[in-house]
Amino acid sequence: MDPDERVLDPNEEPTPIPADPQNAPKPRVRRTHLSLFVRDPEASAQWYEDVLGMEVTARGPQWVFLSFGKKHHDIALIRAEEGAGTGGVGLQHYGLEVEGDLEEWRRLYGMLLAKGVPVVKTTDHKIGFGLYFTDPDGNRFEFFHETVTDDEEGKRILGLYGAPSEPVEIEPLRG
Ligand SMILES: [Fe+2]
Repeated sequence: MDPDERVLDPNEEPTPIPADPQNAPKPRVRRTHLSLFVRDPEASAQWYEDVLGMEVTARGPQWVFLSFGKKHHDIALIRAEEGAGTGGVGLQHYGLEVEGDLEEWRRLYGMLLAKGVPVVKTTDHKIGFGLYFTDPDGNRFEFFHETVTDDEEGKRILGLYGAPSEPVEIEPLRG
């Protein structure tokens, strides 16, 4: 939480920081997860269960989360817009689970802003914090800072709270 209760504006012009390649934060990715737009999450989930041997760890009307058995989720299937065809079905976001503490994650946030990368949102998933941003083509990525590192506990919370995703304001660290 931001102790000063400031509201972050993702469209705010980033404050340039001096280029210092030695100190620039670099993401140390630990694990990844994939989130896909599909036309019918339940039908697709059946395929992922049948073909890839995955198990459903959480589901809602618009999405199904699946695991290869260890993690709370490896793949999330999100309902695409009605009538979506090529281009509207596919990657929703690619999650990069980064090493380090919350401070390091906040430095990555500052790094994105400093580099003028569009930040979409910051989200509390109860099992971690998500920082969503886009590449030059609008493809969405997520730096995921895991707060629940026990995989069994992560699965339990994800299912219990229905894959929670709540907006959260966390101050980026710059420099
Ligand atoms: Fe994600």
